[in-house]
Amino acid sequence: MYTGEAYFCSGTQKSPNFSFTVYPTKLYTVLYIKTITQQVRRIKGTGLMSRAVKLAGLGTEDGILGAIVEVHNLGMKYHSLNGEVTALENISLTVEEGEFVSIVGPSGCGKSTLLSLIAGLLHPTEGSVIVGGRQVTGAAHQVGYMLQKDYLFEWRTIFENVILGLEITRTLNNAARDRVLGLLETYGLLEFKDKYPNQLSGGMRQRAALIRTLAVDPQILLLDEAFSALDYQTRLAVAEDIYGIIKRENKTAILVTHDIAESISMADRVVVMTKRPGTIKRFYSISLTCDRKTPINCREAPEFRYYFNKIWRDLDIHV
Ligand SMILES: Nc1ncnc2c1ncn2[C@@H]1O[C@H](COP(=O)(O)OP(=O)(O)OP(=O)(O)O)[C@@H](O)[C@H]1O
Ligand SMILES: [Mg+2]
Repeated sequence: MYTGEAYFCSGTQKSPNFSFTVYPTKLYTVLYIKTITQQVRRIKGTGLMSRAVKLAGLGTEDGILGAIVEVHNLGMKYHSLNGEVTALENISLTVEEGEFVSIVGPSGCGKSTLLSLIAGLLHPTEGSVIVGGRQVTGAAHQVGYMLQKDYLFEWRTIFENVILGLEITRTLNNAARDRVLGLLETYGLLEFKDKYPNQLSGGMRQRAALIRTLAVDPQILLLDEAFSALDYQTRLAVAEDIYGIIKRENKTAILVTHDIAESISMADRVVVMTKRPGTIKRFYSISLTCDRKTPINCREAPEFRYYFNKIWRDLDIHV
């Protein structure tokens, strides 16, 4: 038996945060490390676990063991009357439970395709997607999908909109109804529950769309440019708001965005994709020095510009 100590840096401070024991079997070590995940997170925030696991020789660059989403050598070709389009090639990625991952890449590189494959709405031409330990073969109920447009039905009240998923999945009972009312209350929409979508602001509509997604209690949220229809100030506020909700509800999230700053400020890890056929160019583990990790605070972190410049260069955007 070997007892080691892991040291982590945060800004100028360097201190021992926890010690872990490596037992002869890797499995035992994994289980042991899992039990300390929460403690480690409380100490310094996410991202450290990946480093701890790497130190123990158990992780890979793009994720760690015990991932909730696993994408293996994924390839996707679309067939149309005009021929074949290779959208994605050789995509491998894992997402840890509770992690927030952002995906950035040029337009048309296959980001939405990747989310649809994870959600089980499309079938890959190569490779596989595993969610919660099971291979995805159809629409996965643990996955909630939020798009750029809120798709609230204008003829239904906010309450009728947010219970839509529960109605469709035939899981609307008193307990679910109470939970939805609780979410509306917590996130400031209870007094608007009998209003119609056109009586709400853009930010409130987006929040209602998120509550509709959360109502069916998905473990994983896929956000495809979920804030891009909003003006800049509202977008910052809504991103802050929705980030808080995702963290409080303890969800795993994958966000596709064209906004580099948004990707860095919200994520534990940023995935940069190449142009079509989309492949993964680079992973960035984001480690920012800020007192309270919220997207707006994170933008003030001294390391922010470093990540921004790196990702900007990776994307090779020409103006
Ligand atoms: N149903 C389809 N049939 C044929 N080609 C498609 C289909 N859907 C997407 N494509 C093509 O696959 C490629 C990837 O599309 P996708 O929408 O995933 O890109 P994206 O990265 O999300 O783009 P954007 O940033 O503009 O939203 C594009 O070239 C697109 O034209
Ligand atoms: Mg897209």
